[in-house]
Amino acid sequence: MPDPNATPLLEVSDLSIEFESAERTVVAVDGVSFSMAAGSTLAVVGESGSGKSVTALSLGRLLPSPPARIRSGRVVFEGIDLLTLPEPALRHYRGGKIAYVFQEPSTSLNPVFSVGFQLSEAMALHRHDLADRRGAGLAALTEVGIRDPERCWRSYPHELSGGMQQRVMIAMALVCRPRLLVADEPTTALDVTIQAQILGLLREIRSRFGMAILLITHNFGLVKGFADHVVVMFRGKIVEQGPTDSLLASPRHPYTQALIACVPRLGDSKKRLATIDYARLDSLLTPS
Ligand SMILES: Nc1ncnc2c1ncn2[C@@H]1O[C@H](COP(=O)(O)OP(=O)(O)O)[C@@H](O)[C@H]1O
Ligand SMILES: [Mg+2]
Repeated sequence: MPDPNATPLLEVSDLSIEFESAERTVVAVDGVSFSMAAGSTLAVVGESGSGKSVTALSLGRLLPSPPARIRSGRVVFEGIDLLTLPEPALRHYRGGKIAYVFQEPSTSLNPVFSVGFQLSEAMALHRHDLADRRGAGLAALTEVGIRDPERCWRSYPHELSGGMQQRVMIAMALVCRPRLLVADEPTTALDVTIQAQILGLLREIRSRFGMAILLITHNFGLVKGFADHVVVMFRGKIVEQGPTDSLLASPRHPYTQALIACVPRLGDSKKRLATIDYARLDSLLTPS
């Protein structure tokens, strides 16, 4: 169990990010604050466009700037504010201590290089201590449940299924021994059965390696049994956050209530987000 009194692994405070274009400025993330203990799991939930990915990408300073601009805030990781860190020092964190897994494994992997080559590259960047990269890479492929790691090592991304590609992405994150794994909609592009397997795998590696996981999802159905804490985002703002069990049992904000009500239940797959009363939410969110 993580010690709740310990310094947080990650502390995001008052983070605001805007996108500037010639015509207008869009505030994508607006005054967001949350923190994560080492080894904990946090789910950030909200519908498409609510600012989840922008928040996630900002942790590793992965947003293209311009057009992105940090308006305010701090992203303190292990006591260091990553937003003010010079670029060379930041490389130690991005991809190393903070690893990412994205929605589309096929676009995250490079189609012209073998899995083994890409794993080796990741280790060359972040694991100078490793003498035997091939051995460590094969071990990582085994750890993510790939039965024939030798064959996978020689494969090119297009030769693998979506689920296998996502396992390779997780292996690539694992070899770097991150303290935080940011998984942005990691199962959205996958079949339902494969989704469950990948979430199970993330849960397993979290307990085995003690890394923290930040899971980004639009689907409240994935949160239960996975995350300790939940942050609910709506139009760039956090509308509610708290421990998963109490938040699911008694959601306070109408948007959270609506999202939870929209989780499809067995035999009831037609319920959609369209039932959300946006006019009512607007009146609740706009200070009068
Ligand atoms: N590259 C970009 N250029 C301009 N605006 C962007 C860009 N990326 C994101 N945004 C804006 O930020 C908002 C939040 O996007 P995002 O974080 O990707 O949402 P999601 O919650 O679906 O992950 C979007 O609605 C969009 O207006
Ligand atoms: Mg997104």
